[in-house]
Amino acid sequence: MRANLSKTIPPIFLSAFFLAGLALGPSQAANPPGVIDLPGVDQLPEIVELPDPLISDGEKIATPEAWAKRREKIKRMILYYEYGHMPPAPGNVRVKSATEAPLYSGAATERRLVLSMGPQDRIEMHARLVVPTASKGPYPVLLQNTNALGNIPIEEEIIRRGYLIAEYLRTDLDPDVNGIVGPAQAAYPEYDWATLAVWAWGGLRMVDYLETLDIVDKGKIAITGHSRGGKTALLAGALDERIALVNPNGSGCGGAGCYRIQGPKSESLAAITDPKRFSYWFHPRFRDFADKETKLPFDQHFLKALVAPRALLSTEALEDYWANLKGTVATYRAAQPVFDFLGATDRNGIHFRPGKHNHSAEDWRALVDFADKHFHGKAVATRFDLVPSEDQLIPK
Ligand code: GCU
Repeated sequence: MRANLSKTIPPIFLSAFFLAGLALGPSQAANPPGVIDLPGVDQLPEIVELPDPLISDGEKIATPEAWAKRREKIKRMILYYEYGHMPPAPGNVRVKSATEAPLYSGAATERRLVLSMGPQDRIEMHARLVVPTASKGPYPVLLQNTNALGNIPIEEEIIRRGYLIAEYLRTDLDPDVNGIVGPAQAAYPEYDWATLAVWAWGGLRMVDYLETLDIVDKGKIAITGHSRGGKTALLAGALDERIALVNPNGSGCGGAGCYRIQGPKSESLAAITDPKRFSYWFHPRFRDFADKETKLPFDQHFLKALVAPRALLSTEALEDYWANLKGTVATYRAAQPVFDFLGATDRNGIHFRPGKHNHSAEDWRALVDFADKHFHGKAVATRFDLVPSEDQLIPK
Protein backbone atom coordinates (compact mmCIF):
# COMPACT_ATOMS: atom_id res chain seq x y z
CA MET A 1 0.00 0.00 0.00
CA ARG A 2 2.71 2.45 0.99
CA ALA A 3 4.84 1.39 -1.99
CA ASN A 4 1.94 2.15 -4.32
CA LEU A 5 1.33 5.52 -2.71
CA SER A 6 4.97 6.53 -3.02
CA LYS A 7 4.85 5.86 -6.74
CA THR A 8 2.00 8.27 -7.26
CA ILE A 9 2.41 10.96 -4.58
CA PRO A 10 5.52 13.13 -4.30
CA PRO A 11 7.49 12.37 -1.05
CA ILE A 12 6.82 15.81 0.45
CA PHE A 13 3.05 15.25 0.35
CA LEU A 14 3.48 11.71 1.51
CA SER A 15 5.31 12.75 4.68
CA ALA A 16 2.71 15.45 5.34
CA PHE A 17 0.04 12.80 4.93
CA PHE A 18 1.87 10.51 7.32
CA LEU A 19 2.31 13.25 9.94
CA ALA A 20 -1.34 14.24 9.65
CA GLY A 21 -2.22 10.61 10.27
CA LEU A 22 -0.05 10.59 13.37
CA ALA A 23 -1.56 13.82 14.62
CA LEU A 24 -5.00 12.31 14.34
CA GLY A 25 -4.12 8.90 15.81
CA PRO A 26 -5.88 8.16 19.11
CA SER A 27 -2.71 8.34 21.22
CA GLN A 28 -2.03 11.83 19.87
CA ALA A 29 -5.59 13.07 20.20
CA ALA A 30 -6.42 15.68 22.84
CA ASN A 31 -6.60 14.30 26.34
CA PRO A 32 -10.02 13.80 27.91
CA PRO A 33 -11.19 16.49 30.36
CA GLY A 34 -8.89 16.86 33.36
CA VAL A 35 -6.16 14.52 32.08
CA ILE A 36 -2.58 15.78 31.97
CA ASP A 37 0.25 14.17 30.04
CA LEU A 38 2.65 11.82 31.78
CA PRO A 39 6.18 11.05 30.55
CA GLY A 40 6.49 8.99 27.37
CA VAL A 41 8.23 5.62 27.30
CA ASP A 42 11.61 7.16 26.41
CA GLN A 43 11.47 9.53 29.38
CA LEU A 44 10.59 6.83 31.88
CA PRO A 45 13.28 5.14 34.00
CA GLU A 46 14.06 1.47 33.61
CA ILE A 47 12.65 -0.56 36.54
CA VAL A 48 13.84 -4.14 36.27
CA GLU A 49 12.40 -5.54 39.51
CA LEU A 50 8.70 -5.25 40.23
CA PRO A 51 7.96 -1.69 41.36
CA ASP A 52 6.77 -1.30 44.94
CA PRO A 53 3.21 0.13 45.15
CA LEU A 54 4.04 1.37 48.65
CA ILE A 55 6.83 3.66 47.46
CA SER A 56 5.93 7.05 46.00
CA ASP A 57 8.67 9.42 44.74
CA GLY A 58 11.24 7.41 46.69
CA GLU A 59 9.29 7.61 49.96
CA LYS A 60 7.75 4.64 51.73
CA ILE A 61 4.00 5.04 52.33
CA ALA A 62 3.50 5.18 56.10
CA THR A 63 -0.08 6.33 56.67
CA PRO A 64 -3.51 5.51 55.25
CA GLU A 65 -3.76 9.13 54.05
CA ALA A 66 -0.53 8.78 52.10
CA TRP A 67 -1.86 5.54 50.60
CA ALA A 68 -5.10 7.29 49.57
CA LYS A 69 -3.01 9.80 47.58
CA ARG A 70 -0.77 7.10 46.17
CA ARG A 71 -3.89 5.19 45.12
CA GLU A 72 -5.10 8.13 43.04
CA LYS A 73 -1.70 8.42 41.41
CA ILE A 74 -1.64 4.71 40.58
CA LYS A 75 -5.11 4.98 39.02
CA ARG A 76 -3.93 7.89 36.90
CA MET A 77 -0.90 5.99 35.61
CA ILE A 78 -2.83 2.84 34.84
CA LEU A 79 -5.55 4.63 32.91
CA TYR A 80 -3.12 6.91 31.07
CA TYR A 81 -0.71 4.24 29.92
CA GLU A 82 -2.80 1.10 29.74
CA TYR A 83 -6.58 1.31 29.46
CA GLY A 84 -7.58 4.88 28.63
CA HIS A 85 -9.96 7.15 30.56
CA MET A 86 -13.63 6.50 31.18
CA PRO A 87 -16.40 9.07 31.45
CA PRO A 88 -17.85 9.66 34.92
CA ALA A 89 -21.08 8.02 36.09
CA PRO A 90 -23.82 9.34 33.78
CA GLY A 91 -26.42 9.42 36.59
CA ASN A 92 -29.17 8.20 34.27
CA VAL A 93 -28.99 4.39 34.25
CA ARG A 94 -32.61 3.34 33.77
CA VAL A 95 -34.64 0.25 32.96
CA LYS A 96 -35.92 0.59 29.41
CA SER A 97 -37.69 -2.76 29.30
CA ALA A 98 -37.99 -5.79 31.56
CA THR A 99 -39.50 -9.26 31.58
CA GLU A 100 -39.80 -11.67 34.50
CA ALA A 101 -40.15 -15.44 34.79
CA PRO A 102 -39.81 -18.00 37.60
CA LEU A 103 -36.75 -20.27 37.61
CA TYR A 104 -35.59 -23.35 39.52
CA SER A 105 -39.06 -24.48 40.65
CA GLY A 106 -39.75 -21.02 42.02
CA ALA A 107 -36.48 -20.73 43.99
CA ALA A 108 -35.65 -17.69 41.89
CA THR A 109 -37.07 -15.08 39.55
CA GLU A 110 -35.23 -14.30 36.35
CA ARG A 111 -35.41 -10.69 35.18
CA ARG A 112 -34.25 -9.87 31.67
CA LEU A 113 -33.59 -6.16 31.28
CA VAL A 114 -32.51 -3.57 28.81
CA LEU A 115 -30.81 -0.67 30.59
CA SER A 116 -30.33 2.71 28.97
CA MET A 117 -27.72 5.28 29.96
CA GLY A 118 -25.40 8.05 28.83
CA PRO A 119 -25.90 11.13 26.63
CA GLN A 120 -29.49 11.24 25.31
CA ASP A 121 -29.95 7.75 26.83
CA ARG A 122 -28.19 6.52 23.70
CA ILE A 123 -26.34 3.57 25.21
CA GLU A 124 -28.35 0.39 25.71
CA MET A 125 -27.16 -2.72 27.50
CA HIS A 126 -28.84 -6.06 28.09
CA ALA A 127 -28.67 -7.42 31.60
CA ARG A 128 -30.05 -10.39 33.51
CA LEU A 129 -30.77 -10.79 37.21
CA VAL A 130 -31.54 -14.05 38.97
CA VAL A 131 -33.12 -13.11 42.28
CA PRO A 132 -33.59 -15.72 45.04
CA THR A 133 -37.14 -15.92 46.39
CA ALA A 134 -36.33 -17.56 49.76
CA SER A 135 -36.67 -14.22 51.58
CA LYS A 136 -37.04 -10.51 50.89
CA GLY A 137 -33.25 -10.20 51.20
CA PRO A 138 -31.23 -8.10 50.92
CA TYR A 139 -28.90 -10.49 49.12
CA PRO A 140 -25.21 -10.22 48.34
CA VAL A 141 -24.60 -10.06 44.58
CA LEU A 142 -22.29 -11.87 42.20
CA LEU A 143 -22.05 -9.61 39.16
CA GLN A 144 -20.46 -10.93 36.00
CA ASN A 145 -19.60 -9.43 32.64
CA THR A 146 -20.07 -11.75 29.70
CA ASN A 147 -20.61 -11.99 25.95
CA ALA A 148 -23.59 -14.37 26.37
CA LEU A 149 -26.13 -14.11 29.19
CA GLY A 150 -27.43 -17.16 31.05
CA ASN A 151 -24.46 -19.55 30.98
CA ILE A 152 -23.35 -19.83 34.59
CA PRO A 153 -22.63 -23.52 35.26
CA ILE A 154 -23.91 -23.76 38.88
CA GLU A 155 -26.48 -21.00 38.89
CA GLU A 156 -29.12 -22.83 40.91
CA GLU A 157 -26.54 -23.82 43.54
CA ILE A 158 -25.44 -20.19 43.85
CA ILE A 159 -29.04 -19.06 44.30
CA ARG A 160 -29.65 -21.70 46.96
CA ARG A 161 -26.51 -20.52 48.75
CA GLY A 162 -28.16 -17.12 49.11
CA TYR A 163 -26.61 -14.99 46.36
CA LEU A 164 -28.31 -12.84 43.76
CA ILE A 165 -26.77 -13.19 40.31
CA ALA A 166 -26.45 -10.19 38.01
CA GLU A 167 -24.92 -10.22 34.56
CA TYR A 168 -24.47 -7.71 31.78
CA LEU A 169 -23.74 -8.08 28.10
CA ARG A 170 -20.47 -6.18 27.72
CA THR A 171 -20.54 -6.58 23.93
CA ASP A 172 -23.55 -4.24 23.76
CA LEU A 173 -21.16 -1.46 24.82
CA ASP A 174 -18.30 -2.54 22.61
CA PRO A 175 -18.66 -5.49 20.25
CA ASP A 176 -15.04 -6.71 20.60
CA VAL A 177 -14.04 -6.03 17.02
CA ASN A 178 -10.72 -4.54 15.97
CA GLY A 179 -10.73 -1.10 14.35
CA ILE A 180 -14.27 0.08 15.06
CA VAL A 181 -15.80 2.68 17.34
CA GLY A 182 -18.31 0.91 19.58
CA PRO A 183 -21.61 2.42 20.79
CA ALA A 184 -20.22 3.58 24.15
CA GLN A 185 -17.16 5.19 22.56
CA ALA A 186 -19.42 6.87 19.97
CA ALA A 187 -21.57 8.34 22.74
CA TYR A 188 -18.53 9.87 24.48
CA PRO A 189 -16.15 11.01 21.71
CA GLU A 190 -14.01 13.09 24.10
CA TYR A 191 -12.84 10.02 26.07
CA ASP A 192 -9.93 7.81 25.01
CA TRP A 193 -11.14 4.60 26.65
CA ALA A 194 -10.24 1.37 24.94
CA THR A 195 -12.41 -1.74 24.95
CA LEU A 196 -11.47 -3.14 28.38
CA ALA A 197 -12.23 0.23 29.97
CA VAL A 198 -15.57 0.40 28.15
CA TRP A 199 -16.51 -3.04 29.42
CA ALA A 200 -15.39 -2.18 32.95
CA TRP A 201 -17.46 1.01 32.85
CA GLY A 202 -20.48 -1.17 32.06
CA GLY A 203 -19.84 -3.02 35.33
CA LEU A 204 -19.82 0.26 37.23
CA ARG A 205 -23.13 1.20 35.61
CA MET A 206 -24.53 -2.14 36.76
CA VAL A 207 -23.46 -1.20 40.28
CA ASP A 208 -25.30 2.14 39.86
CA TYR A 209 -28.41 0.16 38.98
CA LEU A 210 -28.01 -2.56 41.63
CA GLU A 211 -27.68 0.10 44.32
CA THR A 212 -31.21 1.27 43.55
CA LEU A 213 -32.70 -2.14 44.43
CA ASP A 214 -33.92 -2.96 47.96
CA ILE A 215 -33.23 -6.64 47.30
CA VAL A 216 -29.48 -5.89 47.01
CA ASP A 217 -27.13 -5.88 50.00
CA LYS A 218 -25.18 -2.80 48.92
CA GLY A 219 -21.98 -3.45 50.82
CA LYS A 220 -21.74 -6.94 49.36
CA ILE A 221 -21.37 -6.70 45.60
CA ALA A 222 -18.76 -8.97 44.00
CA ILE A 223 -17.62 -8.72 40.39
CA THR A 224 -16.30 -11.53 38.24
CA GLY A 225 -15.64 -12.46 34.63
CA HIS A 226 -13.58 -14.89 32.61
CA SER A 227 -10.46 -14.25 30.54
CA ARG A 228 -11.04 -10.91 28.74
CA GLY A 229 -13.97 -10.65 31.15
CA GLY A 230 -11.52 -11.32 34.02
CA LYS A 231 -9.36 -8.42 32.86
CA THR A 232 -12.54 -6.32 32.79
CA ALA A 233 -13.61 -7.42 36.29
CA LEU A 234 -10.20 -6.62 37.77
CA LEU A 235 -10.16 -3.16 36.21
CA ALA A 236 -13.70 -2.35 37.37
CA GLY A 237 -13.00 -3.65 40.87
CA ALA A 238 -9.67 -1.85 41.13
CA LEU A 239 -11.30 1.49 40.31
CA ASP A 240 -14.59 1.41 42.19
CA GLU A 241 -14.68 1.01 45.95
CA ARG A 242 -18.39 0.21 45.94
CA ILE A 243 -17.35 -3.26 44.76
CA ALA A 244 -16.55 -5.30 47.85
CA LEU A 245 -15.02 -8.38 46.23
CA VAL A 246 -13.17 -8.76 42.95
CA ASN A 247 -12.69 -12.08 41.17
CA PRO A 248 -10.80 -12.17 37.88
CA ASN A 249 -10.94 -15.71 36.45
CA GLY A 250 -8.21 -16.89 34.08
CA SER A 251 -7.52 -13.23 33.32
CA GLY A 252 -3.80 -13.43 32.40
CA CYS A 253 -2.21 -10.69 30.30
CA GLY A 254 -3.88 -7.33 30.96
CA GLY A 255 -5.51 -8.89 34.05
CA ALA A 256 -3.89 -10.62 37.00
CA GLY A 257 -0.80 -11.68 35.02
CA CYS A 258 2.45 -9.81 35.52
CA TYR A 259 4.14 -8.17 32.51
CA ARG A 260 7.68 -8.38 33.85
CA ILE A 261 7.41 -12.00 35.02
CA GLN A 262 6.22 -14.43 32.37
CA GLY A 263 5.76 -18.16 32.69
CA PRO A 264 6.47 -20.49 29.79
CA LYS A 265 3.99 -20.28 26.89
CA SER A 266 2.29 -17.22 28.36
CA GLU A 267 0.96 -14.17 26.52
CA SER A 268 3.19 -11.10 26.63
CA LEU A 269 2.45 -7.38 26.38
CA ALA A 270 3.88 -7.42 22.84
CA ALA A 271 1.66 -10.37 21.85
CA ILE A 272 -1.58 -8.95 23.23
CA THR A 273 -1.04 -5.45 21.81
CA ASP A 274 -0.18 -6.75 18.34
CA PRO A 275 -2.30 -4.60 16.01
CA LYS A 276 -3.61 -7.78 14.40
CA ARG A 277 -4.75 -9.15 17.75
CA PHE A 278 -6.05 -7.25 20.76
CA SER A 279 -4.41 -3.81 20.59
CA TYR A 280 -7.91 -2.28 20.65
CA TRP A 281 -8.49 -3.55 24.18
CA PHE A 282 -5.83 -1.10 25.37
CA HIS A 283 -4.97 2.57 24.92
CA PRO A 284 -2.74 2.90 21.83
CA ARG A 285 0.14 4.19 23.93
CA PHE A 286 0.34 0.85 25.75
CA ARG A 287 1.83 -0.66 22.60
CA ASP A 288 4.89 1.61 23.21
CA PHE A 289 5.81 -0.75 26.07
CA ALA A 290 5.95 -3.89 23.90
CA ASP A 291 9.28 -5.58 24.72
CA LYS A 292 9.94 -2.64 27.06
CA GLU A 293 7.97 -3.89 30.07
CA THR A 294 10.70 -2.66 32.42
CA LYS A 295 9.79 0.90 31.45
CA LEU A 296 6.33 0.54 32.93
CA PRO A 297 6.01 2.57 36.15
CA PHE A 298 3.69 -0.16 37.46
CA ASP A 299 2.81 -3.77 36.85
CA GLN A 300 -0.45 -5.64 37.26
CA HIS A 301 0.01 -6.14 41.02
CA PHE A 302 -0.80 -2.43 41.25
CA LEU A 303 -4.37 -3.22 40.13
CA LYS A 304 -4.62 -5.86 42.82
CA ALA A 305 -3.22 -3.37 45.33
CA LEU A 306 -5.96 -0.89 44.40
CA VAL A 307 -8.53 -3.48 45.51
CA ALA A 308 -7.10 -3.62 49.06
CA PRO A 309 -8.44 -3.60 51.74
CA ARG A 310 -11.42 -5.04 49.89
CA ALA A 311 -11.37 -8.74 48.98
CA LEU A 312 -9.63 -10.08 45.88
CA LEU A 313 -9.55 -13.62 44.53
CA SER A 314 -7.73 -14.77 41.38
CA THR A 315 -9.15 -18.08 40.20
CA GLU A 316 -6.85 -20.00 37.87
CA ALA A 317 -6.53 -23.32 36.03
CA LEU A 318 -3.29 -25.31 36.24
CA GLU A 319 -3.08 -25.96 32.50
CA ASP A 320 -3.88 -22.38 31.47
CA TYR A 321 -0.28 -21.47 30.59
CA TRP A 322 -1.30 -18.71 28.15
CA ALA A 323 -2.80 -16.84 31.13
CA ASN A 324 0.66 -16.63 32.74
CA LEU A 325 0.31 -18.71 35.90
CA LYS A 326 3.77 -17.79 37.10
CA GLY A 327 3.05 -14.09 36.58
CA THR A 328 -0.28 -14.40 38.37
CA VAL A 329 1.43 -15.93 41.39
CA ALA A 330 3.93 -13.05 41.17
CA THR A 331 1.19 -10.38 41.32
CA TYR A 332 -0.49 -12.25 44.19
CA ARG A 333 2.74 -12.10 46.20
CA ALA A 334 3.68 -8.57 45.18
CA ALA A 335 0.26 -7.13 46.13
CA GLN A 336 0.30 -8.76 49.57
CA PRO A 337 2.28 -5.99 51.35
CA VAL A 338 -0.52 -3.53 50.50
CA PHE A 339 -3.17 -5.84 51.95
CA ASP A 340 -0.96 -6.26 55.04
CA PHE A 341 -0.41 -2.51 55.34
CA LEU A 342 -4.18 -1.91 55.26
CA GLY A 343 -4.89 -4.63 57.83
CA ALA A 344 -6.49 -6.97 55.27
CA THR A 345 -3.93 -9.76 55.21
CA ASP A 346 -6.37 -12.58 54.39
CA ARG A 347 -8.33 -10.66 51.73
CA ASN A 348 -5.80 -11.30 48.98
CA GLY A 349 -6.63 -14.75 47.65
CA ILE A 350 -5.64 -17.14 44.88
CA HIS A 351 -7.16 -20.46 43.90
CA PHE A 352 -5.88 -23.04 41.41
CA ARG A 353 -7.85 -25.96 40.08
CA PRO A 354 -6.82 -28.70 37.66
CA GLY A 355 -7.79 -28.24 34.02
CA LYS A 356 -7.85 -25.71 31.23
CA HIS A 357 -9.00 -22.22 30.33
CA ASN A 358 -12.68 -21.80 31.19
CA HIS A 359 -15.00 -20.49 33.89
CA SER A 360 -15.80 -23.82 35.49
CA ALA A 361 -18.13 -24.92 38.27
CA GLU A 362 -15.10 -25.22 40.52
CA ASP A 363 -14.09 -21.61 39.89
CA TRP A 364 -17.61 -20.44 40.76
CA ARG A 365 -17.63 -22.58 43.91
CA ALA A 366 -14.32 -21.08 44.98
CA LEU A 367 -15.82 -17.61 44.50
CA VAL A 368 -18.93 -18.43 46.55
CA ASP A 369 -16.76 -19.94 49.32
CA PHE A 370 -14.57 -16.83 49.30
CA ALA A 371 -17.68 -14.63 49.45
CA ASP A 372 -19.12 -16.74 52.30
CA LYS A 373 -15.89 -16.17 54.18
CA HIS A 374 -15.55 -12.45 53.58
CA PHE A 375 -19.20 -11.38 53.41
CA HIS A 376 -20.56 -13.62 56.16
CA GLY A 377 -17.49 -14.59 58.22
CA LYS A 378 -18.22 -18.27 57.58
CA ALA A 379 -15.52 -20.86 58.17
CA VAL A 380 -14.95 -22.52 54.80
CA ALA A 381 -12.75 -25.50 53.97
CA THR A 382 -11.41 -24.06 50.69
CA ARG A 383 -7.92 -22.52 50.95
CA PHE A 384 -7.12 -19.27 49.18
CA ASP A 385 -3.40 -19.15 49.88
CA LEU A 386 -2.10 -22.25 48.11
CA VAL A 387 0.37 -21.65 45.33
CA PRO A 388 1.51 -24.46 43.01
CA SER A 389 5.17 -25.51 42.98
CA GLU A 390 7.45 -24.14 40.23
CA ASP A 391 7.30 -27.60 38.71
CA GLN A 392 3.51 -27.52 38.38
CA LEU A 393 3.70 -24.23 36.51
CA ILE A 394 5.79 -25.71 33.68
CA PRO A 395 3.92 -27.17 30.69
CA LYS A 396 4.24 -30.98 30.50
C1 GCU B 1 -7.14 -14.70 23.84
C2 GCU B 1 -6.29 -13.59 24.42
C3 GCU B 1 -6.33 -13.58 25.94
C4 GCU B 1 -7.76 -13.59 26.42
C5 GCU B 1 -8.52 -14.73 25.79
C6 GCU B 1 -10.00 -14.77 26.14
O1 GCU B 1 -6.56 -15.93 24.14
O2 GCU B 1 -4.96 -13.76 23.94
O3 GCU B 1 -5.67 -12.43 26.44
O4 GCU B 1 -7.79 -13.66 27.82
O5 GCU B 1 -8.43 -14.63 24.38
O6 GCU B 1 -10.59 -13.75 26.43
O7 GCU B 1 -10.56 -15.86 26.06
